[in-house]
Amino acid sequence: MTHSSINVLIVGGGMITNDLILPAVYQLQRMGIVNQVGVSALNGGPLKALAESQSITAAFPESVFTPYPDYKKHGTEKCFPDLFKEALSSLPPQSAVIVALPDQLHYGAVKEALARGHHVLCVKPLVLKHDQAVEIGNIAREKGLLVAVEYHKRFDDRSLIARAKYRAGQFGDFRLGQARLIEPYYYRHSNFQNWCTSENSDAFSYVGCHYIDLVHFITGLLPVAVSVYGIEEPWPNGKKGFLWTDGRVVWNNGACLNVQNGFGYPDTAPGGNSQGLMMFMNGGKDGGYLEHIDSFRGVKHGLAAGSAKVYNEVNPDFFQYVPASGGAMRPTGYGYRSIEQILHAIHRINSATAGCSSAEALDKRRELLFAIDQEGILATPKNSAYNELVMEAGRLSILNSGKEARIEYEPHPRVSLA
Ligand SMILES: NC(=O)c1ccc[n+]([C@@H]2O[C@H](COP(=O)([O-])OP(=O)(O)OC[C@H]3O[C@@H](n4cnc5c(N)ncnc54)[C@H](O)[C@@H]3O)[C@@H](O)[C@H]2O)c1
Repeated sequence: MTHSSINVLIVGGGMITNDLILPAVYQLQRMGIVNQVGVSALNGGPLKALAESQSITAAFPESVFTPYPDYKKHGTEKCFPDLFKEALSSLPPQSAVIVALPDQLHYGAVKEALARGHHVLCVKPLVLKHDQAVEIGNIAREKGLLVAVEYHKRFDDRSLIARAKYRAGQFGDFRLGQARLIEPYYYRHSNFQNWCTSENSDAFSYVGCHYIDLVHFITGLLPVAVSVYGIEEPWPNGKKGFLWTDGRVVWNNGACLNVQNGFGYPDTAPGGNSQGLMMFMNGGKDGGYLEHIDSFRGVKHGLAAGSAKVYNEVNPDFFQYVPASGGAMRPTGYGYRSIEQILHAIHRINSATAGCSSAEALDKRRELLFAIDQEGILATPKNSAYNELVMEAGRLSILNSGKEARIEYEPHPRVSLA
């Protein structure tokens, strides 16, 4: 480990921690960026499952995390809703806290981490209300700490290529687009059915944010109006949810993006979901066009054994374990790179201020954070709180039969029915 390697606490030990976060953090530990790793969950069950995860232990036989609670001592059932705060207090200042809790718990956990002087990586969405994002952005700036929101589609190289070309004027001016992200049907049987009910959330709020964030990331445009038509159906447990949504997002240059989301990509179909982005632009002699086919990336597998799907269209670009020189497996893909970029930024901030007096260090950190906000590659509360406005507007619209909700930025950002 280098003297500046960072301690990491992951708060939340569920699906996203297993599939993406913990392997990415272990890889960065292997590379000397990360020092010790802790994971906190509500009870020991998910922690035991993570510690015994076949894919993680096969790739990282040398790695372990400190579990909060310790399931070997307390078993897997007993709940410890406040233990993560003790774990936060035990970290040295300017550690990295990764918030991977259910959406409604992000706000409280991010504030607890900042109050103890830690940087934060938060899975999307940062919070559910724009005011909360502004508050978090202000606390982070004052304390000189990074809060970054993990929108991993930004780190798919195709997004970065599109951003560079759009911002160089090569595509022209965005006019009309379509985005689609339909998650698998089997999600209906997961914990989603308990909280993704009509009064709390919907398919647009849960998954629509990815491509809306991406259109801003590529173009720099801001959303100004949102309308969402939702199809309300029962989840398997009988609770009602908007399982299918059709959204329209109007941007501040008058462009319009149609966003379709749902929990309904057939489990028998190849690949993990159905997703992609298409954008048409005015400009030049013939106009501009961009199409990202994000679910089928040209890889077809027919496996004789070891997979539930006989034929599969594998996504090699999001997250895969691949063999590495030296006998180990390493995680690869834009999911991994997204975590890597954020933890590298934290490492850079801490390294740049090592040895400074605390006043000098705070000034320097604020300078670096300002540059990160301005650059706009990492999503921060200061540069991506439009996502919270879209979510507020989307909820207002879907609960009012799809009426348009307007987003105003001046004099104060607000959302209202048109
Ligand atoms: N594509 C993406 O960007 C993406 C994909 C999946 C999930 N997510 C986000 O990740 C977050 C987590 O989703 P998930 O699918 O992993 O959820 P999950 O339900 O599988 O896991 C949630 C975890 O939070 C833990 N938890 C709950 N209360 C706690 C407390 N008080 N203290 C400590 N731990 C507590 C639970 O024990 C569980 O381990 C959500 O915000 C979701 O929106 C993002």
